[in-house]
Amino acid sequence: MSIKSINQTFDLIEENDAFEPNELQQIEINLLLDGLYQLYGYDFRGYVRSSLTRRILYRMKAERLPTITALLEKVLHDQGYLERLLNDLSIRMTEMYRDPSFFAAFREQVVPLLRDLPEIRIWHAGCATGEEVYSMAILMLEEGLAAKTRIYATDMNEKALLAAQKGAFPLKKMQQYTKNYLKAGGKKSFSEYYTTDHQYAYFRPNLNKNLTFAQHNLVTDGSFNEFHVILCRNVMIYFDNTLQQQVHTLIHNSLADGGFIGLGSKESILYMPKNIKYQEFNPQERIYRK
Ligand SMILES: C[S@@+](CC[C@H](N)C(=O)[O-])C[C@H]1O[C@@H](n2cnc3c(N)ncnc32)[C@H](O)[C@@H]1O
Repeated sequence: MSIKSINQTFDLIEENDAFEPNELQQIEINLLLDGLYQLYGYDFRGYVRSSLTRRILYRMKAERLPTITALLEKVLHDQGYLERLLNDLSIRMTEMYRDPSFFAAFREQVVPLLRDLPEIRIWHAGCATGEEVYSMAILMLEEGLAAKTRIYATDMNEKALLAAQKGAFPLKKMQQYTKNYLKAGGKKSFSEYYTTDHQYAYFRPNLNKNLTFAQHNLVTDGSFNEFHVILCRNVMIYFDNTLQQQVHTLIHNSLADGGFIGLGSKESILYMPKNIKYQEFNPQERIYRK
């Protein structure tokens, strides 16, 4: 296939999310995903194909390669190609107090039920660059629970985790994040929590005290603790039904009885294994209770 026809194919994909790869491309994508899994242990085989295809074709085009097979060859032999492809396959879009009403409901309805626990363990599964994690750390601080809260933040993407650990977010986003914080029931002036330079807002190191960041892959790694709250928001939306069932089992096994799971606004508990039952605690905000 010529570069011109690749460009045409890619333009088509950009315009139409529901782009279906042809039969040959499907075979090549399967080979690429098998290679990624067999050599590096990254398992994308159960991810929704349309967005995966779009991203694979984007990387192929960006590397000026004629076929997905050529991309596979590069990825198998060169760590640089692997890292760039992994970065494309991990969708890191996030913000502080994303869906503010979720955080408001969490503060008003969930926090009172956590208050009497001797220790509160929260897991952010798929934390991306950490915006959701710092949002939670501030919320628990304002509720007077920071000292006994331990927050574990994990993602499969090492680069995203490094960024998360820094707690530095673009200054230009702070106006939007301040609005979200106030809508989420924030109790102070948001700027009390960070210092700035001309480019970034640096969240205060004291927020970091109870945070643990670690690489963890929801598809291939197991449970590592028992939690009172697990937020896995806007992650499973990229998984097919079978993979959603697998990850729901992992989450359910990692939740204490009475614990809470929070999902993203477009996610549901529809594709859970039949033996898992949650109380619909606040279904509108996608908060469920074990
Ligand atoms: C769209 S972000 C969501 C961030 C945040 N939870 C939020 O709702 O704003 C999705 C994150 O899930 C991570 N992710 C995707 N597949 C994963 C997996 N198998 N294991 C762990 N993290 C994964 C991606 O790397 C990305 O950082």
